[in-house]
Amino acid sequence: MPRTAPPEQTVTATDLMRAAVLRRVGGPDVLAVERVPVPVAGDGQSLVDVALAGINFDDLERRAGDTPPPPLPAVLGVDVVGRRRRDGQRVAVLMRGGGGYAQVVAATDAYSVELPDDISDEQALGIFEQGATAYGALSLAGRLKSGDSVAVSAAAGGVGHLAVQLAVALGARQVIGIASTEAKRELVTELGAHDVLGPDDLDGRLREVTGGRGVDLVVDATGGEQTRALLRGLAPFGRLVSYGWRSAEEDRGAVSVSTEELTDGSIGCAGFWMRHVVDDRPLLTAIVQELFRLAGQGRLRAHIDRVVPLTGVGAAHAAIAARATSGKVLIDVNRES
Ligand SMILES: NC(=O)c1ccc[n+]([C@@H]2O[C@H](COP(=O)([O-])OP(=O)(O)OC[C@H]3O[C@@H](n4cnc5c(N)ncnc54)[C@H](OP(=O)(O)O)[C@@H]3O)[C@@H](O)[C@H]2O)c1
Repeated sequence: MPRTAPPEQTVTATDLMRAAVLRRVGGPDVLAVERVPVPVAGDGQSLVDVALAGINFDDLERRAGDTPPPPLPAVLGVDVVGRRRRDGQRVAVLMRGGGGYAQVVAATDAYSVELPDDISDEQALGIFEQGATAYGALSLAGRLKSGDSVAVSAAAGGVGHLAVQLAVALGARQVIGIASTEAKRELVTELGAHDVLGPDDLDGRLREVTGGRGVDLVVDATGGEQTRALLRGLAPFGRLVSYGWRSAEEDRGAVSVSTEELTDGSIGCAGFWMRHVVDDRPLLTAIVQELFRLAGQGRLRAHIDRVVPLTGVGAAHAAIAARATSGKVLIDVNRES
């Protein structure tokens, strides 16, 4: 796993970079910008000068200690775009061990993808990790078929807003986006959803908007009662794919489904985790190329909520936790303030 070298290491000034460092778990204010050593590239790694780093929901859980954080002090951040030092190539990189909130990363070559010229840094990073998650949930786990109806929960989120567009691109007949505010539902409609619902009006309304039949495929990142309502809205032979949950919810919103329920409704449940794509280099490359192809055709567009400097990462974490963002939040690691 790539990891930023410990900040305590003795180095010359030229080996230093700026990074948002986590020294103890806690609220958004525990992230502090420090000058720390540039990481050392190991076997199969290359140094990348980062232009933009992504903030992901998982980072919030690690920062808060809800998910075990990496050994402290640590640098969070699992996705970046930048230039590979050895050849100047623009790349997008997945950082499995974190390290992304920094000016330089030691990128594992197997998790790096070269960027085509026609995609901007912002769009590439907006689409990369969360787009691959949306694709995996819809297509690999969800087996989306042309003509299916698809419901997307948290549809204005980083993954969700791409899932809405991908469902359309992959041939869904009807896409139903679920989001908590009018502004988010407007965005989801602009992105191609045929129907939009609030998280509290799923019972009854899911069947109503599908002509009484129910939904063929649900991709869900919520858990708890909302997932229960989504299960009740499935059509015969429908399936629900879970790929996330809300950290605040007890037991991470775990939902138990009996084999009797599955049989009674002729429904299925599946899960999706990006690790199984990241570990499969040909699959990762094929998915990302497909995402970039759709972006090039104007059929997939990342909504960039905001771009913050490293000093703004804590506030951005707070905004994501408050459900005040839509789409992707990025860090310009070279902006001073
Ligand atoms: N399985 C995988 O490999 C994988 C990969 C990437 C992400 N994920 C997971 O996917 C989920 C979504 O990730 P994301 O990057 O799309 O996150 P995001 O951009 O922060 O979006 C999350 C959405 O969840 C909804 N939400 C509901 N309750 C919330 C709460 N208590 N706090 C914050 N948001 C809440 C919000 O939408 P509303 O306000 O409309 O409800 C928000 O837009 C996360 O659970 C993440 O861990 C999984």
